[in-house]
Amino acid sequence: PSYWVVIPAAGIGSRMRADRPKQYLQLAGRTILEHTLDCFLGHPQLMGLVVCLASDDAYWPDLACAIDPRVHRADGGSERADSVLGGLRKLSGLGASDNDWVLVHDAARPNLTIADLNQLLETLADDPVGGLLAVPARDTLKRADTDGRVQETVDRSVIWQAFTPQMFRLGSLREALADALASGVAVTDEASALEWAGYHPRLVEGRADNLKITRPEDLQWLKQRWKS
Ligand code: CTP
Ligand code: MG
Repeated sequence: PSYWVVIPAAGIGSRMRADRPKQYLQLAGRTILEHTLDCFLGHPQLMGLVVCLASDDAYWPDLACAIDPRVHRADGGSERADSVLGGLRKLSGLGASDNDWVLVHDAARPNLTIADLNQLLETLADDPVGGLLAVPARDTLKRADTDGRVQETVDRSVIWQAFTPQMFRLGSLREALADALASGVAVTDEASALEWAGYHPRLVEGRADNLKITRPEDLQWLKQRWKS
């Protein structure tokens, strides 16, 4: 089956406190965003990829992948979910059908491996809903009050950390996101929109190092890791 990709890259990276949005910071000689796109552009089943960018983005035109014929741009929105929805609408204009698969992946998650990507594609190929890469909780988990006092220990065996890519059918994802946004529900990932619509996305266990670069120490950690 063929699939499409949407990369939300319209954030400003406030927690990174850098001189530019974090997706344009350097990692091993190239920008984080280029590393992120690489994993998809090297994949034979990719039909097309949409990058969601801030309207005043001045960095994108300098990247080599900006002229790749499979790469298209869409305008980002005020929240991540708005950016993703803009990307999905762009896909329909590119000829994607509502039954096609879409993978949504954070621009700030450059350490995705081909093996994890293939694992997601293979596991979900015949899935009626779709799903996401995720990692089982490792540490003992506590529920606390606002004072920092433990109220109870949470059953770790049913708790997962949600990563990306998240893979759903274009039509159902677009409708779920649009409905969730219109209802004012908090949608921090694609799965939560599908959950809100009553579906149960499948968790596909991935690598724990498929981290989102959020704070300066995350980028330091990845730089060290790529060196060794
Ligand atoms: N994103 C987006 N549009 C937004 C907000 C975020 O496309 N309005 C993207 C970011 O570019 C990032 C991904 O969504 O690739 C995950 O968001 P996050 O890690 O929160 O990035 P930022 O919003 O840029 O960072 P911060 O929250 O620290 O400002
Ligand atoms: Mg953010």
